[in-house]
Parts: sequence; structure tokens; C-alpha cells
Amino acid sequence: VKRVRTRHFQNAKAQGIKITGLTSYDALTASIFDSAGIDFLLVGDSAGNTMLGYDTTLPVTIDELIPLTRAVSNAVRRALVVADMPFGSYETGPDEALHTAFRFMKEAGAHAVKLEGGERSAEQIRRIVSAGIPVMAHIGFTPQSEHGLGGHVIQGRGAQAERLLADARAVQQAGAFAVVLEMVPVDAARRVTEELHIPTISVGAGPHADGQLLVWTDWAGLTGGRIPKFVKQYADLRSVLTDAAQAYRADVESGVYPGPEHSYDD
Ligand code: KIV
Ligand code: NA
Repeated sequence: VKRVRTRHFQNAKAQGIKITGLTSYDALTASIFDSAGIDFLLVGDSAGNTMLGYDTTLPVTIDELIPLTRAVSNAVRRALVVADMPFGSYETGPDEALHTAFRFMKEAGAHAVKLEGGERSAEQIRRIVSAGIPVMAHIGFTPQSEHGLGGHVIQGRGAQAERLLADARAVQQAGAFAVVLEMVPVDAARRVTEELHIPTISVGAGPHADGQLLVWTDWAGLTGGRIPKFVKQYADLRSVLTDAAQAYRADVESGVYPGPEHSYDD
């Protein structure tokens, strides 16, 4: 199989073929999603919520994400692996950003990095790209700045659409190979997608983007509690695993498991 490269993203947009992405944080899901033909896997700092038990992505560190990213890049044969740069690992300037990007490329085998912010992150993107590292940008709702944005708020409504467009132009100009639009209204996402020559990747930004990305634990119905409106659940893993755990407990308590077929003879 041929690896997905950033060129594939360009070609897909040119040919009108949609790009698919999922998050992944471990080798098992990475190999499943890779075999299923998902184009790129994001080792998101959403791992803070999905894997590490934090309430937000803010506490997540580089050292926490590196082993997860390593596991995903070890497992894939085709998919492009994007490492998410955590809060506090790139904002102070291009030098810090490049240093963080080097760590994900060298220690974790990532193929690209992602960071949040439009105009405010343009210099960081430019420096990382100039070192030969592809950058996926991320604008619209950016979870690392949820306190600055006043919560989980849709970005780019009404007059804010100009702000979104300016951010989109800035990351394209800085050399990003793609841009994630998170929680953006359908029409604003369509305008950005039409204007940019790099592909847009929707996370709750409607059908007109060049690709779609979802947090796999939401997508597979593993997450407990509320999931965002934009997520379509493609499986119900939480019930599957709950049923399995209850059946196992019942079998052990009643002596049904292990049976002779699971036991070794003398
Ligand atoms: O961390 C993450 O999973 C993300 C995507 C949802 C965009 O940044
Ligand atoms: Na993220």
C-alpha cells in the first residue's frame, strides 16, 4: 500500500474526493482504522478527555502524547499520522513551536503536526513548515482556548465569518497543508472551502468541507454522557462492552467460566 502524503490531500480537493480522518490514541484502533482506509489519524490532545480522564485538554503535556503518538505511527501502513501539539507547547513563539514539532517527528514518528490558532499562530506554522514538517492548522472553535472563547461556542456566525476567513487565509499563507474547521456554521465553512486552495477538514462544520474528522470514542459510541450534535454514532461500543463485562461477571460468579474448554489438562 502507498502511504498517504500531503499531496494526497491536495489531489483529493482538486478531484472532489472527500478526505476522512479519525482520532486514535493506541496501536489497536490505529491498525483497524488504517486497514479500513481512513486517510489520516489524529493523535489529538482530546486524549486528555478520552484516555487520561481530564475535564479539558489544557493539562495535557508533550510527554503524555508522545507514547500515544508512537503507538499510532507504529501501527499504520497507509494513513498519515498527525500529532496534536498540546496547550503550552508552541504559543510563546516559532522556536518553541519548532522544538515541539521536532519532538513529535523524532520521538513519536509523526508525519505532520497540528496546532490551534489562525493569525496568532501563523509565524509558528511558517517556521515548522520551513523545517520540512507538514502542518495541519485548526481554527473556528479551538478547545485549548475555551476559557478565552467563553465555553464551547460556535465560531464564525454572522459578522464573525470575516474573522474566520482572515484566519483561514493566514494559515494557508503560512504554509499549512490543510485546516481543521471546528464548530463552524455550514455557510461560513463553505465560503472558506471555496476560497482556499488547501483542503478544509470539518469537525462539526457541515458537509461542504473537503474532509471530515471525528473523535473516535464519540463516533463509536464509547463516550459516556453528552456528545456534540455534530457527531454521528457509527457503533454502540459502550453497550457492547457493558454487556460483555456483565456477562463475564455473571459467568465467573456462577462458575460457568472457565469451562473445561478453557482449562489445561494435567
Ligand atoms: O484533539 C482533537 O481530537 C482535535 C480534533 C477534534 C480537531 O483537535
Ligand atoms: Na486537539
